[in-house]
Amino acid sequence: MDKLSALDALRVHNQNEAARRMEMLDEAGQEKMAAQVAKIDWKMLDDIKSQAAGGVKEKKVEPLAAVELKDIELNKASYIETGIRAIREGEVAAVLLAGGQGTRLGLDKPKGTLNIGEQKDLYLFEQLIYNLLDVVNKTGAYIPLYIMTSEKNNEDTEAFFKEHSFFGYDSSFVTFFVQNMAPSVDYNGKLYMEEKDSLAMSPNGNGGWFLSMLSAGLEADLKKRGVKWINVFAVDNILQRIADPAFVGATIQSGCSCGSKVVRKVSPDEKVGVMCKVNGHPSIIEYYEMSEELANLRREDGELVYGFGVTLNYLFKLDTLLEIADKKLPLHIVEKKIPYINEKGELIKPESPNGYKFETLVLDMVEMMDNCVPYEVVREHEFAPIKNKTGKDSIESAKKLLKLNGIEF
Ligand code: UTP
Repeated sequence: MDKLSALDALRVHNQNEAARRMEMLDEAGQEKMAAQVAKIDWKMLDDIKSQAAGGVKEKKVEPLAAVELKDIELNKASYIETGIRAIREGEVAAVLLAGGQGTRLGLDKPKGTLNIGEQKDLYLFEQLIYNLLDVVNKTGAYIPLYIMTSEKNNEDTEAFFKEHSFFGYDSSFVTFFVQNMAPSVDYNGKLYMEEKDSLAMSPNGNGGWFLSMLSAGLEADLKKRGVKWINVFAVDNILQRIADPAFVGATIQSGCSCGSKVVRKVSPDEKVGVMCKVNGHPSIIEYYEMSEELANLRREDGELVYGFGVTLNYLFKLDTLLEIADKKLPLHIVEKKIPYINEKGELIKPESPNGYKFETLVLDMVEMMDNCVPYEVVREHEFAPIKNKTGKDSIESAKKLLKLNGIEF
């Protein structure tokens, strides 16, 4: 897009302040901004008003049967055998979602480089690699690992892995790819600037991971390696098991095109997305979308009917991902702290949310599947997400769980 068309586009969409700032730039600055403007999905910005008002569609919510701990106990050997076979055949890959910005932790480095060690260094990335290496050691096969970064943290992430020799993982099995970006806006939908010649851009959510893989030309690589299943996981759950043979085996045996690692809710009102069926499809319903009555509903054995929260660890069948690749994921408008430069050109790092980012989410991919099997894991052993500075899901709570599991740090 040329500079004049970019300026026109900004004005047509009522972004006069951004247009004014663009006009003040030199040739190179204007070209840089024009390239950003060319990529803006204006419809997304127009949606702010309707979506922020919260137009939740009519939803028919039903329970979704899970493979529970007691089932796993009974079938463990068979699940593990199936999983190990698939891993040894090279059918299982892993995708680490590391494109986020960790705004709640207030980090300016990739979240995975967070060092939570006390007696020795222990980085988030490091522990995740160790968890994966457990499976490599058990199966004798390396699992291809794809790491999604964003334009903001790709360089730092790649450099970090190299500096630490991939924490002992065979680097020929590791591939980095970069996700897409979207602009951030204030509460009135006006574009923020993060530098004098740059709009405030942020990664467009974790839902775009598969499309970003395809754009990076990785379909050929997946096929060449014979991958059939992809285990997608978040960077911040330090205890999670990745390419867990029993989970892989249970999902394959279920005949479903998706598996999801879930934990039992600690109480009916726990703020966690819960697996269920919505309008006949597997789905994750957010805690704020669930009525008190539904949240408290109990089965005959006394357990909650909607009792399994998601952990952002999914196994997807590659064939099905390719089938749904063209479908558009819904866009979520998320309130976040967005650093920006003010009229005087000063960089402001807000202490509290000051606007919206636009994100697609992995959980919406689950809804596109015909079926998905929730697979229960023991919370204390596999769920230690680090989201906040203090309190729930924080570094402190994760450290307690690491100790509980005998992991030294
Ligand atoms: P979160 O939703 O917790 O976001 O991401 P975040 O960026 O890590 O942290 P906050 O909300 O800003 O504090 C869940 C997972 O999805 C990845 C994150 O890296 C994390 O593994 N993610 C998130 C991406 O890969 N890309 C994104 O655009 C957003």
